[in-house]
Amino acid sequence: LDDPTADPFEVAGRAADDIARLTGVEQHDIALTLGSGWGKAAELIGETVAQFPATEVTGFSRPALEGHGGTLRSVVTPRGKRVLVIGARTHYYEGHGVRRVVHSVRAAAATGARTMVLTNGAGGIKGAWKPGQPVLISDHINLTAASPLEGATFIDLTDLYAQRLRDLARTIDPSLDEGVYCQFRGPQYETPAEVRMAKAIGGHIVGMSTALEAIAARQSDMEVLGFSLITNMAAGIQSTPLSHQEVIEAGREAEPVISSLLARVIGAM
Ligand code: 6GU
Repeated sequence: LDDPTADPFEVAGRAADDIARLTGVEQHDIALTLGSGWGKAAELIGETVAQFPATEVTGFSRPALEGHGGTLRSVVTPRGKRVLVIGARTHYYEGHGVRRVVHSVRAAAATGARTMVLTNGAGGIKGAWKPGQPVLISDHINLTAASPLEGATFIDLTDLYAQRLRDLARTIDPSLDEGVYCQFRGPQYETPAEVRMAKAIGGHIVGMSTALEAIAARQSDMEVLGFSLITNMAAGIQSTPLSHQEVIEAGREAEPVISSLLARVIGAM
């Protein structure tokens, strides 16, 4: 993937072959990327058929961060849907390029998955939200100045975060609120002025993932569902300084509740 002459979709195809071999599952229906706080969902979705380090699959990089497991698993839901659970996310701020960031999405699409569920831990800017609260992503603003698309690939992003899937999620939890996710490059958290900007341009959630992955998922014709766990209120909204520790702890506390919600949503698919 670091070779600019390589075709990233060919690499994704090889990754899908590896996944089929390691899982014994020819086709997956749904892919789920687990962000911070969402990890417990993997066990709750159904029966684990296979589990292995992502580094055994072509194109996957070593996990950079504690709390970003680095494991892939194949799970079957009670309804018989095959779910590829991706506990290995490469962030854009790691500096390995967008191809690495979206490789898991393209690999999942190559395994046959038509639905991409993206989850993350993020900062909240809507005043009524509280740390520990899960929210649906209704749309995004990509502030990374990057794109997974290369060349003249003019794809439509209307209904990127499918209304159909948000409605399905609300059949499980009607109280779910939603908001526009702003992907910043990071890894530094935003300044208060950047958070005011995000708010002014229509954002409600700030994070460092997801938007680039959603674009890649749409390019591969997948339907996208996005969830953010609000781990903290963003800079200038909360009065205390932001810390990675605080984000991890909010994730840990909310994990049982939001993981069960996510598992029920996927179970209903
Ligand atoms: Cl406040 N900002 C960003 N970019 N990512 C986050 C966050 C904030 N809180 C958790 N993840």
